[in-house]
Amino acid sequence: MKLNLKIWRQPGPNAKGRMVNYQIDGVESDMSFLEMLDLLNENLIAKGEEPVAFDHDCREGICGMCSLFINGEAHGPDRLTTTCQLHMRKFKDGDTIVIEPWRANAFPVIKDLVVDRSALDRIQQAGGYISVNTSGRPVDANTIPIPKKNADMAFDAATCIGCGACVATCKNASAMLFVSAKVAQYALLPQGRIEAAKRVQDMVAAMDAEGFGSCTNTGACEVQCPKGISLTNIAILNKEFLLAQSK
Ligand code: SF4
Ligand code: FES
Repeated sequence: MKLNLKIWRQPGPNAKGRMVNYQIDGVESDMSFLEMLDLLNENLIAKGEEPVAFDHDCREGICGMCSLFINGEAHGPDRLTTTCQLHMRKFKDGDTIVIEPWRANAFPVIKDLVVDRSALDRIQQAGGYISVNTSGRPVDANTIPIPKKNADMAFDAATCIGCGACVATCKNASAMLFVSAKVAQYALLPQGRIEAAKRVQDMVAAMDAEGFGSCTNTGACEVQCPKGISLTNIAILNKEFLLAQSK
């Protein structure tokens, strides 16, 4: 397969960026999108040119590092799929593919397609944890009964990989879907109730301080989320926040 690539190149955080055209040949349909970029970079290095910087780690859909806006969609044209699990069979010979970094004020570009997503880490550090008894006599987890529905919803919320596609997709660059998943995964479990009020207030305050926009219930985040995190979590976040305010 031969492809035309239009890729955002930006040498550094304060440098001016621009779209650059590349032609690539020999792309196999069973290559992943990142393997296609590896091939492009091998060609660029062989020609003595600077390779394209892009984020990746696990390449199996679990770490949340890969983060490309492909033809105007976060993680590309497939639903419930991260960029690393997107395959080139989704494209055809002669296609033009536009590749950009996540765009959000809270995600400044570091280089080319790599953005700084540490704002999400700081929100997580503000309250995305529980305190447990480590005295040597912890309570066995199975002695705390949890309704199956709550356990399932908490598990689904916990599948958020912190990729930031929800932010990149949202017209307001809101991080509400991410924060709601991190709040809901604990709010639904007895272990998470103890610090629930402080957690939701601290995480929402951290989200606001990082400069993310507000949620206006558009729902684009849910559509583009590679892990299918539901908008129901945003309803849980709002309920938890109101409950905490009234305490
Ligand atoms: S909610 Fe979905 S899109 Fe947002 S960070 Fe989590 S996994 Fe990524
Ligand atoms: S590289 Fe880890 S989720 Fe894509």
